[in-house]
Amino acid sequence: MRTWWVVSMVVAAGVLGACSGEVGPSGGEDSPASQGPSSNDGASSGTSSSGSNAPGETAPPEPTLDDIFKSLKSGEEQRKELCARGGTNRVTQMMCGASAPKIESLADLQGALGLAFQSPNSTGRNANGQNGNPGFVLSGHSSSLVARYTSAINPRAIVFSPQGGANLVAMGFVRGEQFAEIVARDSSQNGLRFFLVAFKQACNAAPGGCTPGELLTPAIEKGWTSVTIYEDTDVKNTIFDCTHCHQTAGTNTPKMLRFQELQNPWTHFFRDNTPGGQALLADYHAAHGRAEGYGPIPANQIDSSDPARLESFVRGAGFAAQPNEFLTSRIEQEVRQSAPSQPGNNTTPGTSPTWQGLYSKFVAGAAIAPPYHDVKVTDPTKLAAMTSAYQQFLGGSLEASKLPDIRDVLLGAAAVDMGLAAKPGLDGKGLLVQMCQSCHNPNLDQTISRARFDVTKLATMSREEKEVAISRLRLASTNPAKMPPSRFRTLTDAEIGLVEAELRR
Ligand code: HEC
Ligand code: HEC
Repeated sequence: MRTWWVVSMVVAAGVLGACSGEVGPSGGEDSPASQGPSSNDGASSGTSSSGSNAPGETAPPEPTLDDIFKSLKSGEEQRKELCARGGTNRVTQMMCGASAPKIESLADLQGALGLAFQSPNSTGRNANGQNGNPGFVLSGHSSSLVARYTSAINPRAIVFSPQGGANLVAMGFVRGEQFAEIVARDSSQNGLRFFLVAFKQACNAAPGGCTPGELLTPAIEKGWTSVTIYEDTDVKNTIFDCTHCHQTAGTNTPKMLRFQELQNPWTHFFRDNTPGGQALLADYHAAHGRAEGYGPIPANQIDSSDPARLESFVRGAGFAAQPNEFLTSRIEQEVRQSAPSQPGNNTTPGTSPTWQGLYSKFVAGAAIAPPYHDVKVTDPTKLAAMTSAYQQFLGGSLEASKLPDIRDVLLGAAAVDMGLAAKPGLDGKGLLVQMCQSCHNPNLDQTISRARFDVTKLATMSREEKEVAISRLRLASTNPAKMPPSRFRTLTDAEIGLVEAELRR
């Protein structure tokens, strides 16, 4: 307890010092390479604007993994820590031999977990979860840790064991992030265990750090120079905490698989025979063509993405009851009724009373953000520009080092409905509930420093704690101590003012 307090004071002090020098130009917005996707190796560039980026307009610069994991172990030291916990699951089996396994690519990692694509030439539905292949899906939108970075042009891949049971394992990956997320069933500890696989590439050691060309193309899937595996408990007091979404009912309840769009037509998931799935596949192929694999699902199997298989995986593991489930068929129907050009053309956003009900629970702090109501989360103009850039890169007329941040395609107007920005019109208290409570509530581990800020206990919270919160709100988005973390949410200056006033009362 005591040590956390000290650490947090140091962080806060560092923060205040850095803050005054960082108010600077709200620039960098048009230079994705400089604000790079987890671009450099620790050195914050310090050129960010404060919390006033229009969310969805541009992905705000963010602290790197190294910034956030500074206090954590890495490499062999972390491997020993992980292995000392014992257990019988695919991850510890992979990691805890006499020495660390050789993992230099995403394919190596999948192979070591028993998720290799053994039949790369199978096609159609047979390619998926059959003939030695793992199950797999791609999605054009996510409500997870990587929500802000997922779209049809930069999809999230989930690759999983075809059978659940004792060897259940699943991996999530999206380009741009130097990590993969894993869940594995532990047969000796009788439950699910969650792991974050953080890796580095040669570019991490380069002076300018990694560029979009190294992070948003097949380059990120290989050439790994190091791999460190953390468990959820190692990262629970960081913004990479898994439990606030995968163990929402409290620290002593079972951890769960999540799939908010559990049912046909699985709105945001690629599938070659649903209207939404087809629209997303079309956007994906427009940029990536037909010869590039992803995640690394073989190129000729991308169209075999099958959310029905993920559905049976999740149901089979006992998680048919999803909190605040996104009722795919009904929501898609309502959206199409209100905006008939959906899902292919999303310029007129759809509306859905069913979705509104889910969103209200999120606003009330009772659930994580539901997925966006429309199939596409992309701004057609931005998407066209990034598609063309990626095509030029593939064709060789654009050097990798000049590739823009192709994740910068989100529809600005959708930021609120995607949960990246606050619902307009909330007061200070309402903003705290919507923007902070999912990570600051009594269901989470109460022994870590984060628990000192509990949105449900504002009335009895100390003045000191409220001041700590105030000091966090206006930090630059590159600052690891920024609240809310820019990976998840952004407040406007006016909203920060309302939250501050509430905390000063
Ligand atoms: C903000 C909420 C959130 C956080 C934080 C989060 N997840 Fe998830 N996770 C989800 C959701 C929602 C899904 C379902 C697919 C999607 O929306 O992309 C998911 C899916 C997954 C999957 C695929 C299997 C499944 O459950 O469907 C894995 C593996 C996974 N997460 C691992 C992790 C790990 C490891 C961490 C922590 C390092 C983590 N997640 C943190 C929300 C979250
Ligand atoms: C995605 C999860 C997440 C969200 C959303 C979030 N926080 Fe945090 N917060 C954390 C984590 C993790 C920590 C612990 C690490 C740290 O101190 O930076 C933390 C730490 C804090 C602390 C320091 C507590 C202490 O005494 O050490 C304060 C204060 C805080 N957050 C306030 C806020 C406010 C205010 C909001 C909303 C405007 C918010 N947070 C939104 C995850 C989150």
